Amino acid sequence: MHTLADLPEDKTAAYAELATSLRALLAGERDVIANAANLAALLYWSLPQLNWAGFYLLEPRRGDLLLGPFQGKPACVRIPVGRGVCGTAAARRETVVVPDVHAFPGHIACDSASNSEIVVPILHDGRLLGVLDLDSPLHGRFDADDARGLEALVRIYVESLDA
Ligand code: SME
Repeated sequence: MHTLADLPEDKTAAYAELATSLRALLAGERDVIANAANLAALLYWSLPQLNWAGFYLLEPRRGDLLLGPFQGKPACVRIPVGRGVCGTAAARRETVVVPDVHAFPGHIACDSASNSEIVVPILHDGRLLGVLDLDSPLHGRFDADDARGLEALVRIYVESLDA
């Protein structure tokens, strides 16, 4: 059983603790889906003020992003690369922080409770594997500290696939 600890308020310290938890959680397993599922659950149940945390994984056959493991309400299944916040982060291969999703052109609304969002691309040996997407009911929930912290967690996830 994995016990979730209360995180410190300082974001950098909180993400450092999450990194330690994630390494322990993924140790000894390389499966893309199982490890994504545990990262989604770790984030959703540890970070404050989230209403959705999960993955869209690139489906090479059709070339779009397909809903992967997540926590939160049921969501849109396919997102073309280049569309919405997820598709934009995938196309740019860089983290996209959106303080107000209603002001983001082309934002795809899956849960009407979402007001801000962060999407981190997942790159494995230079290849796009998908994106990690977090939504919040708060406006401006995510900042550069979240971007740095989540990018570090995504690196741990990617490393687990080769471990
Ligand atoms: N809002 C995302 C779609 C996915 S949901 O938020 C879970 C987007 O615009 O890509």
